[in-house]
Amino acid sequence: MKGAIKYCITIVVLILVYLGQAYCQFRVFPYLQYPASDAMTIIWLSEKDTIGYLTYHIKGSHDSILIESSPVLAETLDYSLWEDTSFFDGNAQGVPYKHRIRLVNLVPSSIYQYTVKQGSQVFISTFRTAPDKSTAIRFIVYSDSETEPESTGKYAEWDDPLTAGYRAYIIDQSTGYRNNLSVIKSRSPDLIIIAGDLVESGGEQRDWDEFWKHNTSPFADESLAGRIPIMGVPGNHEYFEGPYLDQYNQPGSERAIKRFLTYFENPPNGALNREQEGRYYALKYGPVTLIVLDLCNNGENGTSDDTNFYLLGEKDPEGGNAPDFGPGSDQYIWLEKRLQEARSNSIFTFVFFHHSPYSSGPHGYTAGICDTCDNQSGTPVRMLTPLFMSYGVDAVISGHDEIWERSEITGMKMLSDSSFEIHTLHFYDVGIGGDCLSHPYKDLINPYQKFVAHDDAPETWANNVLISGGKHYGHLEVNIYPGQQNSWHALLSPVHVFPIFDESNLSYTGFERRLYDDEIMLTKILDEPILSQSQFSENTYIVNYPNPFYNLSVVKFHVTESANVRFSIYNLRGQKVKSYDDGRSYAGLHQFTWDGTGHTGDRLSPGVYILKVETSSGQRISKKMMLLE
Ligand SMILES: [Fe+2]
Repeated sequence: MKGAIKYCITIVVLILVYLGQAYCQFRVFPYLQYPASDAMTIIWLSEKDTIGYLTYHIKGSHDSILIESSPVLAETLDYSLWEDTSFFDGNAQGVPYKHRIRLVNLVPSSIYQYTVKQGSQVFISTFRTAPDKSTAIRFIVYSDSETEPESTGKYAEWDDPLTAGYRAYIIDQSTGYRNNLSVIKSRSPDLIIIAGDLVESGGEQRDWDEFWKHNTSPFADESLAGRIPIMGVPGNHEYFEGPYLDQYNQPGSERAIKRFLTYFENPPNGALNREQEGRYYALKYGPVTLIVLDLCNNGENGTSDDTNFYLLGEKDPEGGNAPDFGPGSDQYIWLEKRLQEARSNSIFTFVFFHHSPYSSGPHGYTAGICDTCDNQSGTPVRMLTPLFMSYGVDAVISGHDEIWERSEITGMKMLSDSSFEIHTLHFYDVGIGGDCLSHPYKDLINPYQKFVAHDDAPETWANNVLISGGKHYGHLEVNIYPGQQNSWHALLSPVHVFPIFDESNLSYTGFERRLYDDEIMLTKILDEPILSQSQFSENTYIVNYPNPFYNLSVVKFHVTESANVRFSIYNLRGQKVKSYDDGRSYAGLHQFTWDGTGHTGDRLSPGVYILKVETSSGQRISKKMMLLE
């Protein structure tokens, strides 16, 4: 009998310990925010007010640094009474705790491993710090994922160009979004930008739960946001509290956007109205400047300058803090300063916001209330086009119409010396993230349209199987990289996630990454090459240019104290194929010019090689070099 009692007590104690630990667990697994060359923010949410532990170290080193988190009650992320009673029988989870740690003094363009321990749960992943201006980068942008639990089993409908009727898309919205994210993950971009309408209802906590369910994971391999920073852009749905709550009424829309602002940490914008911090911002990342705007409201409510007749903004009586964007507004003045800086400091400039100004979709009609008007129109945003053109913005990327459309406008940009040059500005609607798949409206002419993934991507069928074409979920992939001599390229690739069918039973069995026939290459010729400075100790740096290269690449290595420097080139099998050492020891610049040949003087096959630089004083550095055909 005593043994049985002891056994029962042990079981009870184990259950209590388990429950105690469970309460300390993650609510949202760790994710990355606000990337910089020397800093990165890591955020996670826990069930209870218990300290979390973050350790990190640069890859290859074992010198970890430990930081304890300071959990803060995230009051903005509470479930509404309506959600609690409608979906949880009054037993919704309590308010979570937010943990936020900004890692600083990091080494640029380096991979770090980090571990977060919360209760008994451990999350391990890696991140990369932003590179310098000389390094190629890749970012991916999509919009209108509009996550909500109800997306599972919900099928988008669109106007079928073949039958002139409506057709339901073959996979549901959750599967479509999941497949889209899977392709994005496979491309390992440096950054992901979501151009608004991340969730269906910004004020419904379940919709945010669904968003993070897709974008984070307990497992590093499956976590997108734990490995790649996601930059959020406010869309009208982030200001929408929900159909059963206060919708766009105040203070409902402010309650909604505060959930977005709680989850996303963005570079400061210095707005006089502190409530507008995080709603618009700029990020300098390697060779590009990325500018994010909040264009969800403007001017007097219900006028042709207003992008949302339901939302009351900063200048409306009883309005919230949605910022104006027209000339003279604080956001406009801030934008012009950022564009000016970007023109001087970056090779390419991209602007992101939610409301597409040029569209043949449902919000392409002029703002207003009439048969051919729209009260959530993107057309008021056209007032910013002269500014974008003048400062030579390369592409403006938005969503809202839930179609894939590219438009072009050609004008004149002003150079730093006040001269003018012809410039083409590209406008994208990338609103095919994972929700609806809208269609162009035939009575609406977008004179700037160059491509629409509907009429311009006709479907090809064979034996009742879709072979190519059609409208699908997808995203825009942008690769920025150096070309020959002093040129730099931006390749904008329209990716769609094509469904694969099994011909034997005509069922959907998988997906693959495909491109629409509308890739755009932008090229800039610089006055002088951009030199890389990978500093690994003060005043010691390596310059390697060009890389990739065809004929010659110059490696310059600077040492502050007298040392002998040896340059070695290895192939990917670890074999040394070339080395150079002038046998002299001195402080200053040591130089090696590699012409792509090996020890025998024969040209080596094109591909990736590893450059290793070693000094007699014990310094070592490795870099990848790419020999082109
Ligand atoms: Fe929208």
